[in-house]
Amino acid sequence: MSGDSDFRHISVLYNESLEHLAIKPDGLYVDCTLGGGGHSSGILEALGSQGRLIAFDKDADARAAAKQRLNQVQSEAKFDIAAADFSDLEEVLQDMGIQGVDGILADLGVSSWQLDQAERGFSYGQDGPLDMRMDISSGQTAADIVNTESAEQIAWILKTYGEERYARRLAEAIVRRRMDKPFARTGEFAELIRQAMPSKALKEKQHPARRTFQALRIAVNHELDALEKLLEIAPDMLNEGGRLCIITFHSLEDRMVKEAFRRWENPCTCPRSFPVCICGNKPLGKQIDRKGIIADISESESNARARSARLRCFERSREEELQI
Ligand SMILES: C[S@@+](CC[C@H](N)C(=O)[O-])C[C@H]1O[C@@H](n2cnc3c(N)ncnc32)[C@H](O)[C@@H]1O
Repeated sequence: MSGDSDFRHISVLYNESLEHLAIKPDGLYVDCTLGGGGHSSGILEALGSQGRLIAFDKDADARAAAKQRLNQVQSEAKFDIAAADFSDLEEVLQDMGIQGVDGILADLGVSSWQLDQAERGFSYGQDGPLDMRMDISSGQTAADIVNTESAEQIAWILKTYGEERYARRLAEAIVRRRMDKPFARTGEFAELIRQAMPSKALKEKQHPARRTFQALRIAVNHELDALEKLLEIAPDMLNEGGRLCIITFHSLEDRMVKEAFRRWENPCTCPRSFPVCICGNKPLGKQIDRKGIIADISESESNARARSARLRCFERSREEELQI
């Protein structure tokens, strides 16, 4: 099987994700982030005629391209594409009359295809409108944020979501420059960031605006809010033995996933000194591969996106395990 897509997105940790989902041919699976349909194609291929896949994406172009791809997959399983944010997973599944699923996959962030489309405004390397919305039908654009938020708020976004060391300096430069003319294009914005950086930072291998663009994209698309909501609802959505697999690309995201999985595995809140548990919180299941899975050398060499990826997987307990 291959994760290659004519959508110009190579699925990250493709084999590892499918393996960790432990797909049952007659199971019901959710792909929260359809993208180019790479992982979804693999899930469909593994499903039989009684199996079903429901795939979410809030980007209309991604949904259209992935639908074509999924239509070509040799599979008797049924699939549906939901035009929704995966933070609305519970409501969307309830509307479909679904109470529980056997596996959920989320491959966070944007696809290479989205980054490559200049007119979507995700890229510092190509000039386009400073937009960055995955769902272009609603919400604030990146231009709205940099043209209206306070320097403090912009600095917070750059520091928190981009881990940008020069956040304060860059935020002040942004606010100074927008007084002359508001930002409209990625090109002029990336150039301002380059000019505002101290000269030592310009010696780094990576583009000086890389972290700023990442931070704005996360803010524009409320990416951490969506992940937080997913982590709130996912345990209740999983059937017994069902698995949740999440691929993160950012240390903040990974920390959120790691802490949630730890909490689910060991929810006891009793002080360590207590000889027995009296809080009554029971484990929801177990982590598979506690440290998470990272890409091997050959994948990291052939796909730069894979270098920061980490896959974590949690399995919901089976009834017999809960009774032990
Ligand atoms: C990294 S790509 C997924 C690639 C896909 N796994 C593949 O193999 O082709 C992430 C996709 O998820 C979508 N996405 C990100 N966050 C989302 C959210 N909260 N709700 C719905 N879609 C989201 C993006 O629009 C993008 O198309």
